[in-house]
This record gives sequence, structure tokens and C-alpha cells, in this order.
Amino acid sequence: MKPTKYTGIAVAAVGIGAALYLHKGHEGHHPPYLLHPPVVHFPIALLTVGWAAGAMGRRFDWLYKTATGLLWLGTLSAWVAMGLGLLAAKTAPHVPLAWQTLNLHQTLAFCTVGTFTGLSILRWRLKERWPVWFLALWLGACGLVLATGYQGGELVFTHGMGVMME
Ligand code: HEM
Repeated sequence: MKPTKYTGIAVAAVGIGAALYLHKGHEGHHPPYLLHPPVVHFPIALLTVGWAAGAMGRRFDWLYKTATGLLWLGTLSAWVAMGLGLLAAKTAPHVPLAWQTLNLHQTLAFCTVGTFTGLSILRWRLKERWPVWFLALWLGACGLVLATGYQGGELVFTHGMGVMME
């Protein structure tokens, strides 16, 4: 049997799974709040790069379709980031000084996911290519996802949420 791209994906998935299993976390296990950081950069990158592809997609056919894919994938990854974020908030060691930031981070994440879900549905129903008003809304929504990431950074790097003190 010839190796297909699916064989490659399956081998990569098994490899990553095995590496994660063999690598023991800090206390011999993997705290669930460590699952949030590897995922959060997907919505940030896909949704901002997607906007640029959409803007250029007004001229180039291939970018028009790429931008739609990036919007949908980015929205899906934002849902996953939100789910793992809620898990992180339940399991990470809490820092009382960070509670206000955590609240803001969560609210911004909900607004991000809600807005991009709306934009994804709108894109699916829309007949036009990339109208300027749609790109303007998308740009505003990029502000939301970036602000969410910024507040996430505040949580960890300013307040030390989830950071082990030894
Ligand atoms: C679009 C959704 C979200 C994005 C893009 C996002 C982004 C981030 C970023 C960038 C960090 C800093 C850590 C790093 O740089 O890797 C972070 C940390 C954190 N976020 Fe989120 N977040 C999202 C949703 C949520 C939600 C809904 C919660 C629930 C309250 C949450 C809770 C946390 C917590 C507790 C941390 C610190 C501990 C940890 O990283 O596990 N996040 N987030």
C-alpha cells in the first residue's frame, strides 16, 4: 500500500501523543490547565491572517476561498480555546490579584467566540465576495481576539497565574 497523506497525519498524531505520554509533567502528571496555551495561538493567528487574505481576496480568486477557510478554522479553534480556557480557570492555581483580569479575559473570549461565530454564519449565507463592511466587522473582531490574548498574557506573565513557585 502506498503511503498517503492520511498515513502521514496518523503517524504524526501517534508521535505527538506518544511524546506527550512519555514526557511526565511537573509532578508526574499533566495538569489540565497546560492544555490551554498550546491552542490559544491558533485563533489569534488564523483569524488575523484570514482578515489579510480576505482583504486581498477582493482581487485574487484563490485568496477569496482561502480566507473563508481561515475564518471557519479560526472560529473552530476559538471554540476549542474557550473550552480549554474554562477548564484552565477551574484547574490552575488561582492568584486573587488576577481575578479581575481573569474575568475580563473570559468576557473578551466570549465576545470573540460569539462575534466570529456570527461572522462565520454570515460568510456562509453571503453571496458577495468580501464586501468592505464585512472586512470592517472582521477587523473589529480581530481587535477582540488580540485583546483576549493580551489579557491572557497579563494573567500569566504579570500575575503569575498557573506559574509554579518553588
Ligand atoms: C478565544 C479564546 C481564548 C484565547 C485566544 C485565550 C488566550 C490566552 C493566552 C494568550 C493566555 C496566556 C498564556 C499563553 O501565552 O499561552 C491565556 C491564559 C489563560 N486563559 Fe485564556 N484564552 C481564551 C479563552 C479563555 C477562557 C474562556 C478562559 C476562562 C476563564 C480562559 C482562561 C485562561 C487562564 C486561566 C489562563 C492562565 C493559565 C493557563 O494558561 O492555563 N481563557 N489565554
